[in-house]
Amino acid sequence: MNSTAPDIRIENLTIGYDGNPVVTHINATLPGGGITVILGRSGCGKSTLLKNILKLNTPMDGAVYLGRHNIYRLKRKAFRCLKQRIGVLFQDGALLGALTLFDNVALPLREHTRLKQQEIYEVVKSKLSLVGLEKFMDYYPNELSGGMRKRAGLARAMVMDPDILFCDEPTSGLDPINSAELDGLLLELKERFDMTVVVVSHDLASMETIADYVVVLGEGKTLFKGQKEELLATEEPYLRQFLDREGAKRATPRVTTAPLDPSVMKMDCAKYIGDLNSN
Ligand SMILES: Nc1ncnc2c1ncn2[C@@H]1O[C@H](COP(=O)(O)OP(=O)(O)OP(=O)(O)O)[C@@H](O)[C@H]1O
Ligand SMILES: [Mg+2]
Repeated sequence: MNSTAPDIRIENLTIGYDGNPVVTHINATLPGGGITVILGRSGCGKSTLLKNILKLNTPMDGAVYLGRHNIYRLKRKAFRCLKQRIGVLFQDGALLGALTLFDNVALPLREHTRLKQQEIYEVVKSKLSLVGLEKFMDYYPNELSGGMRKRAGLARAMVMDPDILFCDEPTSGLDPINSAELDGLLLELKERFDMTVVVVSHDLASMETIADYVVVLGEGKTLFKGQKEELLATEEPYLRQFLDREGAKRATPRVTTAPLDPSVMKMDCAKYIGDLNSN
């Protein structure tokens, strides 16, 4: 794959709560520039894994590398810098109800950059148009449909031109048409922006459509990790239960757009983390 986006390497990771493991000894490399889907039944630990990769939870054992950085070894400021290179779409979109769509999407830029009002307007507008919502920038979240809120959350996750994009259940709660639309959007983003995408899902159709690489969690361990094609061909009985739907494929050329100019950032992150893309 022609990509300079960082790999995510998970090494012997054991995750859980209050000393009780949920998934043990996870080893996987989520390929840079591709879409990895983390799949598994409800309660198997998908969101817990995401929280550990984002350092919102502390693992019981093991390491996670984003690019060349072991996130658990990074100092606070360095991790803050790294976080600015990561976009997250939370399950419910996590938009602030008191702010318009524009202000919601502008939040990370106002927090982390010195961009002027006009520049913020241009960036937000371009990201909203990416997800087809540029005409709704003055709307409040409660004036948007569920699908629109997901797309708005995606625009916000993309606003800093992240190297890594995490999405927790992006299609949950959406009807099949909106789900397919969001899948199409994720594929388009992957093709247009050189970034590593990790999607947590229990939606098979979605996995078949968007995944390059799949990690299946279940029974407290990693049941499968590998290319989607390998999973679809498996004869393993437990895994076969997942595989009853056909996916669709799309192909568009990858265009790498220029990321935000580092000089507009409030922190000099090069000092702390260097270039995330050089593994
Ligand atoms: N804050 C918490 N404290 C203690 N246990 C938790 C906590 N959050 C989740 N768990 C437990 O960890 C296990 C995995 O939960 P997790 O939310 O990671 O599952 P999931 O695979 O994301 O499920 P779903 O598909 O329903 O979102 C579950 O047994 C859950 O009860
Ligand atoms: Mg979950």
